[in-house]
This record gives sequence, C-alpha cells and structure tokens, in this order.
Amino acid sequence: MGRMDRLEVERCERCPELCESRSRIVNGTGAEDAALLFVGEAPGAREDEQGEPFVGRSGDVLDSALAERGVSRSAVRITNCVRCRPPENRDPTAGELDDCREYLEREVDLVDPELVVTLGKVPSEHLLGQDVAVTKRAGEVHEVRLGERARRLLVCVHPAATLYDRSQEETFGAALDEAVALVGAGDSEQSRLGDY
Ligand code: URA
Repeated sequence: MGRMDRLEVERCERCPELCESRSRIVNGTGAEDAALLFVGEAPGAREDEQGEPFVGRSGDVLDSALAERGVSRSAVRITNCVRCRPPENRDPTAGELDDCREYLEREVDLVDPELVVTLGKVPSEHLLGQDVAVTKRAGEVHEVRLGERARRLLVCVHPAATLYDRSQEETFGAALDEAVALVGAGDSEQSRLGDY
C-alpha cells in the first residue's frame, strides 16, 4: 500500500511538542469497514502507554455503553483528532489539530463510515468549524465535508463527562442510542455490524 492508502501513521514529526510528550503514535482501532466511526480528542496516559485509543476510564465508559446497545468495540472504528498525547493532557492546539487532520481524513476516506460521532467539545468544534456547547447540542446531526466527501456527523459528549457529572449519562446514552439507530446497528437489527 502507498503512504496515502494506509490507516496507520508510522512516523510523524509534524508537531515538535507532541514528539517530545508522546511515547508512541496512537492510531485508530477497530473495524476497517465500520459503519460507526467515533472521534475523540487525543490520547491520554493509558492510550499513550498501550498504543490504542480509549483504553482508559473513558474507554470503559464507551465500551459499556456500546455493549449495552448490542454493539461490540471491535465492530466500530475509534480514533482521535490528534494521534499523540499532548503534554500534561492539555488540549491539542489549533496547529496540532490541523497538522493531524490529513491522517483523520485519510482514515475517514478509507473506512467510509455511515456516521461519524464526535466525542466531546474538541472534535465537535474541529470538525464542525464552529463553537459547540456539546451538552446542549449532543444529538444534533450535521453534514460536514471531511476528506473526499460530505459526511453525516452526530455530536456527542465525551464519555469522561459522565464520570464527572452523572447528569451527562443520559445525554451520552441518548446520543449513542441515536447513533446506533441511524446506522441500524444493535443486536436486534440487521446491519454491517455483524460482530456482536
Ligand atoms: N480521550 C480521548 O479523547 N481520546 C482517547 O483516546 C482517550 C481519552
């Protein structure tokens, strides 16, 4: 495969601070033909250690919420706007988001999901190109240009938000219900997500 045909980024030196703070590049994980593609912000400590997105506490929340809806983690695609852990878990800068965007767009083009779900403020604002109060706007569906074509995007709160504020559980759950319904996933229905 040529460089632009690959889902994985093996080497990248675009962001000097992130090259210092990361232990490794954390690529997306999960089905390469997933109907649902989740986009988080950037790897945290556990993700940086293990080289996989959403394997810490936020990942546990996401995995359980998917399992409750009859969808396994391996049936969806999970990735981040930025593939390297920022120092002290700070938000990625606008420059870092831009530098990593090509990799995210390539992943979206190759996976070709039916729905992109943005987990939290940073990915929602990055992909919608506007300020987003995610708690208020979770559940909104937009069409956005991402990579080679327009994609359907659903705004969702970050799974970690449910750990700090229990009232967000309902918001998070409702957005996931909508995501699963939009692509016809879940164990009671036929779908591309055969791997329950
Ligand atoms: N939070 C994110 O946004 N991404 C991860 O991979 C883990 C936590």
